[in-house]
Amino acid sequence: MLEDLDKLKSEALEKLEALKDLKELDTWRVNYLGRKGALTQMLRGLSDLPAEERKDAGTAANKLKTLLEETLAQKQDDLKKTELKKRLEESRIDVTLPGNPIRLGRLHPTTQILRETSSIFTAMGFEVVEGPEVETDYYNFEALNIPRGHPARDMWDTLWVDYTNEKGERPMLMRTHTSPMQIRFMERREPPIRVIMPGKVYRYEAIDATHESMFYQIEGLAVDKGITMADLKGTLYEFARRLFGQDRRVRFRCDYFPFVEPGVEMAIDCFICKGKGCRVCKDEGWIEILGAGMVHPDVLRRVNCDPEIYTGFAFGMGLERIPMLKYGIDDIRLFYSNDLRFLEQF
Ligand code: DAH
Repeated sequence: MLEDLDKLKSEALEKLEALKDLKELDTWRVNYLGRKGALTQMLRGLSDLPAEERKDAGTAANKLKTLLEETLAQKQDDLKKTELKKRLEESRIDVTLPGNPIRLGRLHPTTQILRETSSIFTAMGFEVVEGPEVETDYYNFEALNIPRGHPARDMWDTLWVDYTNEKGERPMLMRTHTSPMQIRFMERREPPIRVIMPGKVYRYEAIDATHESMFYQIEGLAVDKGITMADLKGTLYEFARRLFGQDRRVRFRCDYFPFVEPGVEMAIDCFICKGKGCRVCKDEGWIEILGAGMVHPDVLRRVNCDPEIYTGFAFGMGLERIPMLKYGIDDIRLFYSNDLRFLEQF
C-alpha cells in the first residue's frame, strides 16, 4: 500500500507540474481527488487492510491527500495569475499612441449665413416662414404686377414645369424669386406683418462663376398702418450694420421692380477697402446687396388689404453673395458642387 501511495504521489505531482491551464487542472483534480479519483479509492481501500498496516497507510494516505490539495491550490493560483497576465498582455493599450481623430461635421456656408441673417431679423421681431419651390404663374408673376407679355418678365429667366392645363396654358414654374411668398403670406394673414421668407429659387441660366440655376434668396415683408420709407431704410441699415460691421454706410438708389413703388437698390460701402476702391467692389467703393421698395398698392389690393389704410415695405436678396463678399469667394458654383476642399473651410 505504501508503495502504491508513493507511486501515486510521484505520478500525480509530475502530471500536475505539466498542466497548462485551469481546465486541465480540473480534470487532474477529478482524476486524483474526486469522488472516484485514484487517491479517494485508496483511502476507501484502507478498511480492507490488516490492522497493523492500516495505521501507517492511513497516515501516509492522509498526508498525501493534504499534500495534493495544497499543491493543487498552489498550482491553481499560479495558473490564474498566468492567464490574467496573458489576458492583460493581449488587451494592452499604448497610451502614448495618438488617438483616433473624431471627425467633426460642419454647417454648409449657406446654412450658416441663413441662420445668421434669420437671427438678425428675428431679433427685430420678424418671423420666419417657408413656401413652395414649384409655383404658379399667378404667384410668381401675375399677383406681383407682372402679367403675361409684360417686358419685366425678362428680368427672370424662367424654368417652366412641363405641364399643360386644359386651356392649353403652362401655369407651373420653378419660382424665380422668393417674392411670391409675399402674396401667399398676405392671403393668410392680416397686418401687422413682419416676416422673412428664405428659400431656394431657380433660373434658366447659362451657368458661370456668377450665375447658378439654383440659389437662395431671402425675402422680407412688413405691412402695417403708417409704415414709411424711413422704416425700410432704418431696418435695412441696421441689418447691414449687424451683418457687415457697425461702421457700414448704406446707399439707396432708385430701381425698378413691378411689385414695389418706389423701388430701390441698397448698397453698402465696401467693407474691404472702406469705399476707396478694390477688387471686391470692382473699384466702385459700393457693393449692391439687395432690392427693396414700398409694397405696390395694387399688390396690397390683390390680397384684400386696403392701401388707404395699410402700407408696407419689402426686400429681397441673394444669400450666397454675402459669404462670397465676406470671404472673397469668386465662383458661386463652389457652393453646390460638394467639393470638401471648399466646404471644409467653413
Ligand atoms: N424678387 C427680386 C429679384 O429676385 C428682388 C426684390 C426686389 C424683392 C425688390 C423685393 C423687392 O421684395 O421689394 O430680383
